[in-house]
Amino acid sequence: MSEQGIEQKYIKEAFDTNWVVPLGPNVNGFEKDLEAFVGQDKKVVALSAGTAAVHLALIGCGVGPGDEVCVQSFTFCASSHPIKYLGATPVFIDSEPDTWNMDPELLEQAILDRKAKTGKYPKAIVPVALYGMPYDCERIMAIGKKYGIPVIEDAAEGFGSRYKGQVLGTFGEYGVLSFNGNKMITTSGGGALICANEEQKNKIMWYATQAREAYPYYQHEAIGYNYRMSNICAGIGRGQMTIVNDHIAHHHHVQALYAELLKDIPGIHLHSAPNADYDSNYWLCTITIDPDVRIKGQENAYKETIKSAVGGAAGVIHQVDSPTTDCQPNENIEALRIYMLEQKIEARPLWKPMHKQPVYADCPAYVNGVSEALFKVGMCLPAGPMVTDEDVQYIVDQIKKAIIR
Ligand SMILES: Cc1ncc(COP(=O)(O)O)c(C=O)c1O
Repeated sequence: MSEQGIEQKYIKEAFDTNWVVPLGPNVNGFEKDLEAFVGQDKKVVALSAGTAAVHLALIGCGVGPGDEVCVQSFTFCASSHPIKYLGATPVFIDSEPDTWNMDPELLEQAILDRKAKTGKYPKAIVPVALYGMPYDCERIMAIGKKYGIPVIEDAAEGFGSRYKGQVLGTFGEYGVLSFNGNKMITTSGGGALICANEEQKNKIMWYATQAREAYPYYQHEAIGYNYRMSNICAGIGRGQMTIVNDHIAHHHHVQALYAELLKDIPGIHLHSAPNADYDSNYWLCTITIDPDVRIKGQENAYKETIKSAVGGAAGVIHQVDSPTTDCQPNENIEALRIYMLEQKIEARPLWKPMHKQPVYADCPAYVNGVSEALFKVGMCLPAGPMVTDEDVQYIVDQIKKAIIR
C-alpha cells in the first residue's frame, strides 16, 4: 500500500469506528510508533502542535511568573513565545559558529550571571536543533546537570536527527517534536512531547486535557489546556511513520547533492555538520553568501514594502510602512530571494534571532554576534520530499545565473 493509502486507511478507520475526537486508537498507535522510533524507553504524548509541546514542557519544569528560562536566540518564535505565555522571561543565548545552535560557554556565563543578578538560577534550558542540526548535547546536558536545571530539547525541526547515534529529544528532561505541514513528517498540524517516564507522560497528558479531577462533574484545581492531538491527524501520523526513514534519507541525499553542485561557486557556503557526531536530518539545506557576491537586481533590494510575509499563506499579516528594519539580511540575500521567486523557487532568509526582535527588546540576552551575522548572510533552500535531483540542479543553476561575475 502507498504511503497515502496507509494514511487514508487509518483516517477511514477513525470515521468508521466513530473516533473523530482528540483521542482514540490512532493517537495511542502514533504515540507507540514514536516511542519505538525515539527509543531510550521514553514515553511520548501526541499534541495539537509543537508550540503546545514547548508550553507543556515548560509547565512540566515548573516555569511560572517571575521565572527565567535560557533559550537559544537563533530560532523560530515558538521556542520562546510559550515562556511569555507563562509570565516568565526568556534569557536569550547566542549560537556557536559550527552548529549555529546554543553556545555552551555563553549558556554557562548566562546561568552564573542570572544567579548573581536575580539570586535565582533559570528554571529551564531550551536548545534548538536549527534546521535539524544537533546542538552540543554533551556539553549542554552537562551544564544542566551541574546547576540542576532541566533541559527541554526543541527538536521540532530535528525529528530523526541524532547526536552520537542517539535520537534528539531523548537527552533532556523533555523533547519537543513538530509535525506541522512543512516538517520531516506531517500530521497536517501537530506535535508531540517526549517525556522521561510514564509519570511525566501522565502529568503532561493531564495538562493537555484540561486538568480534570475525578468527580462526576467538572472539577478543576489547576489550569489545563486543550492540546491533545486529533485522532484524524494521528492517522496521518501513523501513515507517515512508515516512511519517516525514507524522508530522512531523501533529505540527506538532497544535502549531498547541494554540496556537490555548490562546491565550485565562490562565496557560497553550504552549512554542514561539523563532524560525524552530529547527524543532522537536514530538514532544510542552508547556505551563507559572502557580502561581496553581487546578485542581479541588488541595487533595488528593500526599495519597496512587500504585501505578504515569509510563511505568509496562513493567517493575517500586519502591513508595514517601511521596507526595512534595523536588522535584516544583506541586500544580495534579499536580491537572490526575489530572483529565485521569479524562477518559481521559494528560498527564505534564516530565522531572525529572537534577541533582535522588537517584541523581546527588554529581555536579557547573552550574545557573541554569531546569530546576527548568520542572519545577514544566510538563506534556506528547498529540501522537502518532493524536491527531485532535477529540482536541485535547477535551483543551483538559477543561483549561478543570479550572480554577476
Ligand atoms: C524550532 C521550532 N520550535 C517549535 C516549533 C513549533 O511547532 P508547531 O508549528 O508545530 O507549533 C517550530 C515549527 O513550527 C520550530 O521550528
